[in-house]
Amino acid sequence: MKKITLLLLLLPVIVLANTTWGKTGHRVTGEIAEAHLTGKAKRALNDLLDGHSLAFVSTFADDIKADRAFSKYSAWHYVNYPLGTNYRDAEKSEYGDIVMAIEECTAKIRDKKNNREDRVFYLKMLIHLIGDLHQPMHASRAEDKGGNDIQVQWFGEGSNLHRVWDKNLIESYGMTYTELANELVEVSRTERKQIQAGTIYDWVDESHQICAKLYDSVEIGEKLGYRYSYDYNELLFEQLQKGGLRLAKVLNDLFA
Ligand code: ADE
Ligand code: ZN
Ligand code: ZN
Repeated sequence: MKKITLLLLLLPVIVLANTTWGKTGHRVTGEIAEAHLTGKAKRALNDLLDGHSLAFVSTFADDIKADRAFSKYSAWHYVNYPLGTNYRDAEKSEYGDIVMAIEECTAKIRDKKNNREDRVFYLKMLIHLIGDLHQPMHASRAEDKGGNDIQVQWFGEGSNLHRVWDKNLIESYGMTYTELANELVEVSRTERKQIQAGTIYDWVDESHQICAKLYDSVEIGEKLGYRYSYDYNELLFEQLQKGGLRLAKVLNDLFA
C-alpha cells in the first residue's frame, strides 16, 4: 500500500486516539450503576436498551466517533475552562461541552414525544458522558487539550497525561471490568447519599479541581510507572465509584 494511503487510513485513529476514559473505565461505571438502580429504572432501561447492560452500551459514544456523520458530538465528551474557576462562570464553547450535552440528553430522554430511536441514542450518550465527567482530565483546560499535549512516559513508552488517565492507569491492573467493579468497596448508605448529592455543575467542578492537582503532580517528560499507579489507585477507584453511583442517581431520577 502506498504510504500516503496508509497515512490517510490511519489519520482518524491518530486524531481520535486520546479522547475518552477507555472502554474498561466506562464499563466499570456502567456495572456499578446497574447495581444501584430502582426497579422502575431497571424496567425502563431494559425496554429501551433491548435487554443490554449499561456496561455494554457505555462505549457507544466512542464507537461512533470514527463516523464523520457524528462529528458534531466530539465536543460533548469534555469541557475546558481555566483552572481555579467554576463552570458556571466560564465562557461556553459554541460547539457544546459535556455539561450542555448531559442536559440535552436528559431533556431528550425525558420527553416522551421524541421517538424511541432518538431517546435510545441520547440514553446511550448519557450513560457514556456521566462516565467521562468523572475522568478528571475531561474537566480540564484548553491550553494543552486536557493534558493531551503533556507528554510523559508510561513504563518506558511514550504517553501523555490525558492518556494516562483515560487508559494507562486502569489497564495497568490487567483486570476485566467486572473484576474491577468487584474490587471497589461497597460504600455505606450515608456515603452513597453524599456522593449522589449535588448537581452536574458540582460534579464537573469537583473533577476540574482534581484535574488541577494532577497537572501539579507531573513534570513534562516525567517517567511514570508503579509509583504513580500506587499513588493514584485510591483516586482512580473513587472516580469510578462516583461515576457509577451518580449515573444510577441520574437514571433513577429520569425514570422515576
Ligand atoms: N480535546 C481538547 N480538550 C480535551 C479534553 N479535555 N478531553 C478530551 N479531548 C480534548
Ligand atoms: Zn468519551
Ligand atoms: Zn479522554
